[in-house]
Amino acid sequence: MIPDAIVEEIKYRNSIEDVIGEYVSLKRAGSNFVGLCPFHSEKTPSFTVFTDTKSYYCFGCGSGGDVITFIMKTANLEYPEALEYLARRAGIEIPKTETQKQQGIRRDKILDMNRVAARFFHDNLKNSETALSYCKKRGLSGSVIKHFGIGYAPDSFNALGDFMRKKGFTDEELISGFLCGKSKKTGRAFDYFRGRLIFPIIDSSGDVIAFGGRVLDDSLPKYLNTSDTPAFKKSRSLYAFNFAKAACREALILCEGYMDVVSLHAAGITNAVATLGTALTEEQARLMKRSTDRVIISYDSDEAGQRAANRAFGILREAGVETRVLHMEGAKDPDEFIKKFGVEQFRNILSGSITEFDYKFANILGKYDISTTEGKVKAVNDACKLISSFLSAVERDIYIAKASNALSISKESLKRDVDRSVRKNYYKKKKEFTEDIKRKSEGYGDRVNPDYAKNVKASAAEEAILGMMLDSPEYIRRIKKGEFSLTPNDFHSEFGKAVFEAIIKACDDGKFDISVLNESFDSVQMSRIIKMQIARRGLTNSNKAFEDSIKTLKNSKSKEEMSLTELLNKKRKINKEDI
Ligand code: UTP
Ligand code: MN
Repeated sequence: MIPDAIVEEIKYRNSIEDVIGEYVSLKRAGSNFVGLCPFHSEKTPSFTVFTDTKSYYCFGCGSGGDVITFIMKTANLEYPEALEYLARRAGIEIPKTETQKQQGIRRDKILDMNRVAARFFHDNLKNSETALSYCKKRGLSGSVIKHFGIGYAPDSFNALGDFMRKKGFTDEELISGFLCGKSKKTGRAFDYFRGRLIFPIIDSSGDVIAFGGRVLDDSLPKYLNTSDTPAFKKSRSLYAFNFAKAACREALILCEGYMDVVSLHAAGITNAVATLGTALTEEQARLMKRSTDRVIISYDSDEAGQRAANRAFGILREAGVETRVLHMEGAKDPDEFIKKFGVEQFRNILSGSITEFDYKFANILGKYDISTTEGKVKAVNDACKLISSFLSAVERDIYIAKASNALSISKESLKRDVDRSVRKNYYKKKKEFTEDIKRKSEGYGDRVNPDYAKNVKASAAEEAILGMMLDSPEYIRRIKKGEFSLTPNDFHSEFGKAVFEAIIKACDDGKFDISVLNESFDSVQMSRIIKMQIARRGLTNSNKAFEDSIKTLKNSKSKEEMSLTELLNKKRKINKEDI
């Protein structure tokens, strides 16, 4: 996204020794600088900053890169954020790209267009007998229609299009905003919503960002929704959040459908929202978390709705929201429930909503016949898995008491099983976590050698070996003579192995010229190879250093890389008190 010239400029104006010097106390060593490596603990400096190549490399732990890599690692930033940071540091402004600029314009244009279209649909509803009688049938009063800006799209291929073109919007704009589709035959725009009741989707700043449209009969699809546009991201939006936001401090009610939300608001329950024809996303969960402490899942009572609820629990828990679920009987969804039993009854089931544990435990009890030994064992197993998925030890104790009581087993034995399962989860999580971070921090952007991150120590050792071979070609000759035990298969990474093989092959009758490698490697790979060589300058390429590196490579190739893992554990501790 950010042009190369700007990246160059950013690197030029942030001298690597200055930037790193803010974090590491550097001492001059010839034209380079050395210091104690910030990425592993050491007593003698092996962290080197090369001023001519504008790179750093630690001979202890193998971390290396340029000024951007350094900031990404130390400040835990992604590439664009690191560039942003360095640009600010040097007083450079990163210009918006043409596409970004265009998107800005297009977003405004689409919002403009949507506002005009929403007005058209709304006015049109007032003049349509069919639509009005449908609204009446669904119990939508005039004030509710007005409040939600509900409209009607005429059953025509060009009613909206003609209206919008008169207002100065082009076919291209209408198509890009999903108000129109593009005819395959003529290439012309045709109305996307036809003969549908229209629900405008409005964001917190009051902009109409999209539409949902329902058919008036039983035809399919029942609902059409605007796809993503520069003004609308479905996975980040919630229907009626613009209204619910003001009333949701205590709780948000999460429904499946537009009509559920409309009915609840109409009945005075104004903290209801719905997803827009998709399953709940992490982004929507985070959006809710920012405004409320509790979400009450109020999905349809059918099997699909209950399955969706199970999934939503996980996503909401991950987002840190306390979640409950509504138990609804005698109606398929909240809209139908309110119409059948009234809002007071709905408020009753709202206050009777249950926690994730109670909901899932009830499902376990429903699934097995616990009067049989086999059923009971299975139920205990499932209960144990469920309880151990909760992070808080206090919560787990409460659930253990409940479950042991319901399954008539001893609290102590259930607790033992739960504790074991918690420990297992903990180590599994921790492993996943560190591996994730490791790959992120070390391997980020390393397209030349994607294996590097998998074993930093082995990778560093093989680069040292290759660097020495390039810097002092006598080693190549001596390898060929069999003086050192080193074969291609000793190498950890595919890239390292390929470089090694190419060097060996290129060294004919004792002569070696690095330029030959240009035949087998592209320029990016070449710079990496040169970097390995440069990294050896000023260091003694002794027999001992060479043999040590071979030893390190062979040893660490078979071992899990630990130093970085430890470092990262120190940095970001997983809460261990709970086990
Ligand atoms: P439902 O089929 O439960 O519809 O779909 P509903 O909300 O109860 O609608 P009414 O009461 O029949 O009018 C729930 C939600 O799933 C999305 C819509 O957002 C809908 O509100 N959906 C459903 C679609 O996006 N497309 C479809 O074809 C059907
Ligand atoms: Mn419904």
